[in-house]
This record gives sequence, structure tokens and C-alpha cells, in this order.
Amino acid sequence: MSANSPLISADDEWSPLKAVIVGRAEHSAFPSEPFHAMAATMRKEHLAEFRPGNPFPPEVLEKAQQELDNFAAVLEQNGVRVYRPKEVDWLKVGGFTGAMPRDTFMTVGNTLIESPFPWRCRQKEVQLGYMDILDLLSSDYCARICRAPTIVGRDTIYDGVGGTNGNSETNGSHHWAINNSRPAFETADFMRFGKTIIAQISNVTNKKGIDYVQAMVPEGYTVEILETNEGFTTRHIDATILPLRKGLLVYSPPRVSEESLRSHAVFQDWELHPLPYTPQPEKNPWPPQYMCSPWLVLNGLSLDEKRIFVEEKNKEFADWIRDRFGMEPILLPFAHVNSIGGSFHCSTVDLVRSA
Ligand code: ARG
Repeated sequence: MSANSPLISADDEWSPLKAVIVGRAEHSAFPSEPFHAMAATMRKEHLAEFRPGNPFPPEVLEKAQQELDNFAAVLEQNGVRVYRPKEVDWLKVGGFTGAMPRDTFMTVGNTLIESPFPWRCRQKEVQLGYMDILDLLSSDYCARICRAPTIVGRDTIYDGVGGTNGNSETNGSHHWAINNSRPAFETADFMRFGKTIIAQISNVTNKKGIDYVQAMVPEGYTVEILETNEGFTTRHIDATILPLRKGLLVYSPPRVSEESLRSHAVFQDWELHPLPYTPQPEKNPWPPQYMCSPWLVLNGLSLDEKRIFVEEKNKEFADWIRDRFGMEPILLPFAHVNSIGGSFHCSTVDLVRSA
């Protein structure tokens, strides 16, 4: 990479990937927040695990770390510059993980935006794990890094929601696990389509959060809210829609409709394909899917407009995108990373993509 090539420059999900952050899994612990916030986002069968000081099973973390290291090595073999966060004992500091940076940062043009996390257990994530990367990136004088605003005093994000009195505050037309008293989001509720950024309101993203992103993005970018319906657990848009390349998107039909996608000008001339898939519940899978649904199959990371990383067990999906759309899926093991919160898209932040 030449001395003056940008360190932060990406505004879509498919242009050739040049630089990326890949997360790390060691010492990850189940996130823990007030019960209603966990109940609103996590799978019922594992809800009891989401309590303070509860590590993920060591064998899951060990394998997740190997999967992430292998993924990082494959990216490097493909000429991508890979940054890794610092090893942090998340269990000790009451945090969650370093494996899901997609929730933490988003690149829009030359701007990197940090999430003002709704969950307390994630509010120190950047300070603890990512400062070395931010220092490196800030040597690019054209780059802008927007750190999340500091919360001074008491955090009001759960006031009036989820208590025994029921939800007294609404955030839009739906009762969510957070209120709209301050900007809050996880960047995985946003997806970039060039000058248009598609966002969803969710149990971790409020309207003020979306307005905040609109205020932070460079001139000329617009944030639009997509009507989605993940059901009760809505959190993150990257298991609902997946652009395979410019002009071609696959979506989860129970979670979003073609009509709702089409109502956004950016998709008007796109091919939009529902994923022909009916999730089959597995009996006691190992590793357990603690946090995600089977729609995580849509959580791919694109190397370019042809090559995309797919979990090696999702052979049917890989065959479908190969046969139907001429894609070249790259199959890698990632089941243990999936277990602790996400797949290839969740565990990365693309910093540079070049057209
Ligand atoms: N809530 C999504 C589902 O269960 C999972 C999305 C994970 N994404 C992420 N960036 N951590 O289908």
C-alpha cells in the first residue's frame, strides 16, 4: 500500500476489499443487561446464560479464535490488510467480546463512526480493544474518526421501558427495549449502498441514533429507514438483507418485503431475490447458537463482487448463489464464531474498499 493511499475509504458492501478489522474471541462473556433488554434480543432457550460474569464455554472460544485467525490469514493471502483488536479480558471488565466489531464501527467514505452503544457492557469496548487501531488510522490526515459521545451522569436509555409498569415510552410505533432519550445504535443496524445508507430501528438502535449517523456522515450521504420485521428479537440488519454485488440483493422474506425494499430509490432498479430457505430447528446443536437465528446464513463478507465468505456448513446457500448468480463463495469454518454472536459480516469492519 503506498504511503498516501487512504486508510479509511469505503461506502458499500461489495467493492474490492483492501483493508479490514477482524475481531478476536478470547475471554468473551455473555452480554448482560437488564432482563427485558436480553429477553428482547436473545434466544429464549439460552436466556439464563445472559447474566453478569458468565464466560462462554472455553472450548467454544478456543475454536472461535482459531476460526477468526484462519479467516484473517485467508484475507491476507488475498491481499487484504488486516487489523486485529487488542486481547482484552472481557470477563474481568464486565464486557462482552472483541469478536463483533461490525456492531462497533461503520465506515462511510473517509469517516469511521463509533456506536454510542445502548448496552452498558459494550460502552468501554473501543477504549479497551481498539485504540491502537484508531491511532494507526488517524495517521491518515484525510480520515475522520467520530468517537461516541461520553455519557456524563446516569444513562437514561432504559428509563420507562421494560419495567414492571410496562413500556411507557415508545421509540417509533413499536415498543422497543430502549427508549429514545439519547442517540443509541449498534452499527450492524446500518448497511451501506453508496450514497444511501439503509438503517433499521431495533432493540439496540433508536431514532436519535439514526439522526446522529445522518449528522456524522460526510456531505452527500443519506440515511434511510427500512421497514423490517425480524420479530420480537430485532437487532442488526445483516441477517435480513445481503447485497451480493451492485444491483443484486438477497433478503429474508419473513423479515422484509420486496415492496418495502422497492420503496427506497436506491433499490428501484436492483434485482431483489427472496432467499428460498426454511430454517430447520436443530436439536441441541453444538456449538449452540446462543445469540443468532439461522438467517445468519445471510451474514456474508464480500471480498469483491464475485467472492464472498460463507460458513462451510451452508453448502446449499453457497450452491444457490454460485449456480443462480455466478458468485464464487469461499467456504470457511465459522460455527464457533456464529455461536458467540455472528458470522463473517459481524466479525469484521471493512475500512477500505476500492472501486
Ligand atoms: N439478530 C440477527 C439474527 O438473529 C443476528 C445478527 C448478527 N449480526 C451482528 N452484526 N452481530 O438473525
